[in-house]
Amino acid sequence: MVEQWTENPRVAGSIPAPATYWPSMPSHSTKYDWKDAGEEWSEPWGSSAAQWSGTVLPRIRDCLPTGTILEIAPGFGRWTHYLKDYCQELSAVDASSECVEACSRRFAAESHVHCYLNDGRSLSMIPDASVDFAFSFDSFVHLPREIVAGYLNELRRTLKIGGKGFIHHSNLGAYADSLSERVPEPLRKVLRKIKILDWEHHRNPTMSADVFRSLCARTGLNCISQELINWRGRRLIDCLSLFERDGSTENTSTKIVRNPRFMREAARIRRQSRTQT
Ligand SMILES: C[S@@+](CC[C@H](N)C(=O)[O-])C[C@H]1O[C@@H](n2cnc3c(N)ncnc32)[C@H](O)[C@@H]1O
Repeated sequence: MVEQWTENPRVAGSIPAPATYWPSMPSHSTKYDWKDAGEEWSEPWGSSAAQWSGTVLPRIRDCLPTGTILEIAPGFGRWTHYLKDYCQELSAVDASSECVEACSRRFAAESHVHCYLNDGRSLSMIPDASVDFAFSFDSFVHLPREIVAGYLNELRRTLKIGGKGFIHHSNLGAYADSLSERVPEPLRKVLRKIKILDWEHHRNPTMSADVFRSLCARTGLNCISQELINWRGRRLIDCLSLFERDGSTENTSTKIVRNPRFMREAARIRRQSRTQT
């Protein structure tokens, strides 16, 4: 059954449209051209199938298969397509009606996939303590701290005790005091063009691995591990955080790994998938 959650406070004008938070579109435009359904973002890996099997699945394998998966911000279902085969129920929640409609069409034959439109911050359609595994990849990187904090609160409510979450978010905030951030924007643009500085890929500057950990602690979630990764450039501007609702009030230490070879991993996966086909 494919459902849609139609209550959307954004129509009242209180919450900016999701397009405000995410890139790959000029700022004056309100519509992203989804003609390739997000497949274009997997280009460094060769395909989303190669990215899933070589990069995403190995990092979440211990959490799968499971009963109920919640995917936040699925877009046109690039990861939903794979996640759906690892669970009994999957809820996919996105703030864009175009994306929810696309997912509803794409997964219409899958009776265990439920697609919902939300207000860009709450998960009111998801019952308390009902989720075994929450997932989001390539979406939270654009979200500001206040929205991430809101979602973590919602995940504290909706995850079962022992339920886990895996979220790919921005670590750009870790570079806030770096020299490159103090270079005036016009000069920064030139330095990026000649590859002295790398691009920020619209990562949100208010988020970092440290901020995510403290938001988890404040919310009562246990941040188990964080992998700081580069995204198309040299700086580790992204982070893959794994966390758990463990039911205790004590915070255990987070295992933190710095991985500057993430894009080399992508290139290797791309080469391997080419030789296999
Ligand atoms: C760059 S796309 C990535 C989609 C998908 N995760 C993928 O990797 O193909 C970002 C997605 O996040 C959604 N989005 C942006 N802000 C959101 C928010 N605050 N809450 C829920 N979805 C949001 C957009 O509608 C879009 O579907």
